[in-house]
Amino acid sequence: MIKKAILTGGGRATRLRPITTTINKHLIPLANKPMIFYAIEKVVEAGVTEIAINLNPGETELQKVVGDGSRWGVKIHYYEQTGGPQGIAHVVNLAKDWAGDEPFIFYLSDNIVLSSIKPLVDRFEKEKLDCLLAFAQVPDPERFGVPQFDSAGKLIDVLEKPADPPSDYAVTGIYIYNSKFFDAFGQIEKSARGEYEISSIHSYFLKNGQSVGYEKIDGWWKDTGKPDDLLIANQLIMDKLPAEEFKNEGEIETGSRVLGKVKIGKGSKISAGTQIFGPVMIGENCLLEACRIGPHTTISSGAEIRSAEIERSIIFENVDIDSKIKIVDSIIGRNTSIVSGHLDKPQTHKMILGDNTFIEM
Ligand code: G1P
Repeated sequence: MIKKAILTGGGRATRLRPITTTINKHLIPLANKPMIFYAIEKVVEAGVTEIAINLNPGETELQKVVGDGSRWGVKIHYYEQTGGPQGIAHVVNLAKDWAGDEPFIFYLSDNIVLSSIKPLVDRFEKEKLDCLLAFAQVPDPERFGVPQFDSAGKLIDVLEKPADPPSDYAVTGIYIYNSKFFDAFGQIEKSARGEYEISSIHSYFLKNGQSVGYEKIDGWWKDTGKPDDLLIANQLIMDKLPAEEFKNEGEIETGSRVLGKVKIGKGSKISAGTQIFGPVMIGENCLLEACRIGPHTTISSGAEIRSAEIERSIIFENVDIDSKIKIVDSIIGRNTSIVSGHLDKPQTHKMILGDNTFIEM
């Protein structure tokens, strides 16, 4: 049995700025749940009982949100990414003493998969592999680690973000290794971008006679590296969730319309004139008044929404929207206010926007 898993909880997430300027990427809510919870649930379901999570130095919020693991009946150990960012393989190597001689799963917590990873663990054990990789077919393999096969279809190498991909598969961020990982780490060099690439480990294994197996992931897989990926992941997770997960624990006033799969948290009130079209998830203590929400929209706790229409969007905690506007395909960070000004000219906008903000009006 594989009892241990190493999960990522650090990194820079520059492609998700400005959202990630103030929130750890792994805490971004997907279907109103922090992203890293999905990674934890997947490894726990596969039988893991001890998890190590790497953190950027100085991180405090992630530990508070995730806790000691008791919520999932497991033990969580945190460790800092010392020595500056040096690549994903380096993150794993920093957990060498914690892993000891035991096999482990390494899971990039920004990878969202819908299927169980238990079959991968079973295969790794049954075939006594040194390494098991999971591949997914993608339209843009150049963004990922890419497997290379010979003419007989045998896996011969893995290339990191190749300009000219040798196949249309991505190596997903779900890996299983035994302790030979740490021997391989001692043999690899930093890449041109100054990182110990996880693909260099796989390449080393393949060229030095270690047994590397692979599985093609059935169903959907997403690396949530860009804002659009978050919106797609949010939609697909909600589509997949069964209707029982969408409970109404709030108050729906007469004169409002709630259709389809809609979850409403405790203390939330849907006032008259509001229309909600599921799938939609609304957190606790929200107030929705004369607005139109959904489909595929999640609103975290503490929001007050009036007059607006919101579709296919992720609204973080304590957002206040009071304006006759339509918001689509948007991600709105914590404590944001969008209100209509009392200005006489139409189409006038007053804004305080952080760096790298994107607005389409
Ligand atoms: C990392 C790995 C890459 C892998 C990808 C999966 O890339 O380096 O090999 O295919 O994760 O999510 P990153 O997302 O850090 O650019």
